[in-house]
Amino acid sequence: MSFAALRASVRRAAAPAPAALRRSAFRSSVRRYSTEPPPPSPPPPKSSNATLYGALGAAALGGVVFWIYTSSSDSAKSAGSAVRSGVQGAKAAANFTPTKEDYIKIYNKIAEVMDEAADKNYDDGSYGPIFFRLGWHSSGTYDKVSGTGGSNFATMRFAPESEHGANKGLNVARDLMEEIHKQFPWISYGDLWTLGAVTAIQEMGGPHVPWRPGRIDGFAAQATPDGRLPDGAKGADHLRVIFGRMGFDDREIVALSGGHAVGRCHHDRSGWDGPWTFSPVTISNSFYKLLLEETWVWKKWDGPKQLEDKGTRTLMMLPTDYALVTDKVFKKWTKAYADDEELFFKDFAGVCAKLFENGVPQHQWATSEPWIMPRTDEQEANKSK
Ligand code: HEM
Repeated sequence: MSFAALRASVRRAAAPAPAALRRSAFRSSVRRYSTEPPPPSPPPPKSSNATLYGALGAAALGGVVFWIYTSSSDSAKSAGSAVRSGVQGAKAAANFTPTKEDYIKIYNKIAEVMDEAADKNYDDGSYGPIFFRLGWHSSGTYDKVSGTGGSNFATMRFAPESEHGANKGLNVARDLMEEIHKQFPWISYGDLWTLGAVTAIQEMGGPHVPWRPGRIDGFAAQATPDGRLPDGAKGADHLRVIFGRMGFDDREIVALSGGHAVGRCHHDRSGWDGPWTFSPVTISNSFYKLLLEETWVWKKWDGPKQLEDKGTRTLMMLPTDYALVTDKVFKKWTKAYADDEELFFKDFAGVCAKLFENGVPQHQWATSEPWIMPRTDEQEANKSK
């Protein structure tokens, strides 16, 4: 068994969800990439880091953001094309322009690191959920009116945004990403974090989420004020205000909330405690099913208000999650996704792609169309063809 296949089986054994996995195996057997696999690219030239950082430093010093987008070049628009965006322009000065293949190498590295959680007895055996949350929190600060926030400048690297209450615990993911960045110093942090979220979603059995590079590293001055991310103690109105500011409607709010199929609340981070589903490292529509099918009661404890399932008392829901069944319009979509996992996956892929791209100026994108990054098991299967 190959290393990737072994990792995949370990990941799945950690929290089996047979229906979702059968579905995912079925999908992978019938799906085709929407972009052709890239042509083999030569290994990045061993340009000295001094040259690279010299070029980057020069760019940062002048506060200059390079944009060398070869928009007239067809090759720049195809998968596997040379990618130049933002600070990457400076990297081009160091003689290296990454291709889709280079980003796939980072994808694979992220997938590998995700699974190291199992050896470290971290949570449910995967860093996938916290990688996903990092990508979402770096993107969820977007304000469509002012055009500020979003994944573009990766401002969560800076205090006070890194210390905002909603971001508690995300240092775990940022530190792991920092190690990956050391190996691939040419990628922007916004690209790395959103690619981390996409990798997590796909490797945890979720749908392909279209993604492309182009975000640039910004400065502390571009950090967003506290209060832009949702507060789990609130209700439907709050969700509409917070997600409406990002440009999402009711259906999209419910689809995005399906992110709580994975991961858990940590008492020492948010104050809340416990997982939402029985399979917290597998993306499926179980979050919606559980919301509708279980009886939810308020937990009696010395902590913030949360619900627990009456049956096992091992699962939890935040007040905001519960709003998805108490609000009439939200409930309609909760039911639709509980009944039809294909519909959920389709909508989920779309809203996640939108979330991760929000606020990034069009001209920054390295390709006119987002890419579909192949999952590690798909890469393995392709090799043996
Ligand atoms: C709807 C409003 C939302 C609220 C109030 C909310 C709140 C929270 C809270 C309190 C936690 C627990 C943090 C901790 O204690 O470690 C959490 C975790 C998480 N959230 Fe959300 N969230 C929301 C929406 C979303 C969305 C839209 C996504 C993704 C699309 C998402 C993905 C996640 C993931 C994957 C985790 C698990 C992290 C881990 O296991 O470490 N959340 N969320």
